[in-house]
Amino acid sequence: MTKPTPSIIAIDGPAASGKSTLGHRLADELGYLFFDTGVMYRAVTWLALQRGVDVNDEATVTRLAETAQIDVAPSSKDDGRACDVLADGVDITWETRRHEVDANVSVVSAYAGVRQALSAQQRRIGLRGKVVMVGRDIGTVVLPEADLKVYLDASAEERAKRRYDEVRARGGNPDYQEILDKVIQRDHIDSTRAVAPLRPAEDAVLLDSDKLDADEVFERVKNLCK
Ligand code: CDP
Repeated sequence: MTKPTPSIIAIDGPAASGKSTLGHRLADELGYLFFDTGVMYRAVTWLALQRGVDVNDEATVTRLAETAQIDVAPSSKDDGRACDVLADGVDITWETRRHEVDANVSVVSAYAGVRQALSAQQRRIGLRGKVVMVGRDIGTVVLPEADLKVYLDASAEERAKRRYDEVRARGGNPDYQEILDKVIQRDHIDSTRAVAPLRPAEDAVLLDSDKLDADEVFERVKNLCK
């Protein structure tokens, strides 16, 4: 008997490990919803910065996560975005990719109340099935019942190089060393936080994208879905 195609697919891993590229392609291939949970943490971070809230003020940031209406929708523009990110109805897709958001998002996402508010929404969407959900804690906390769990890793240097290329491709003028330092710092905060730290689920398939290019990673995971 052949196994059914997994309905709930969780992809976790550190910053710029290729999770979104893989998740997007896989969701297209299977006709599933692609959900990048990182954009929700980014949206709360952007809202806090824009409203002048100190990101170290846990109570206020948590209230923001609990009250803001954050929506993630299929992309409405052909400008390189993977999806639309809306906060209280306003399109903040590119704002969530800003340097200030990168620098502060791990502080915001370490707050238990923020995680509780956002992961409850993620779980509700994930349980509908036919979904590829990407993040740090999908296989461990948000959807531990996922049918397939992938943990995608790569060295910090390789991931920083990818982020550097991405920023350049968007017309920016990044500094490689600065990006590398930030990647290492973000990994450290994400993997040492008390709530839902970044780590592979015990039943996750581990893939190292230093050794595999994007096509090879995709083929491997596609085969796991058969
Ligand atoms: O795109 P990149 O891998 O750099 O980051 P992201 O997936 O957009 O996530 C941004 C940040 O949100 C991460 O560094 C984590 O601090 C946080 N995050 C999280 O804590 N849990 C998730 N499920 C997704 C993201």
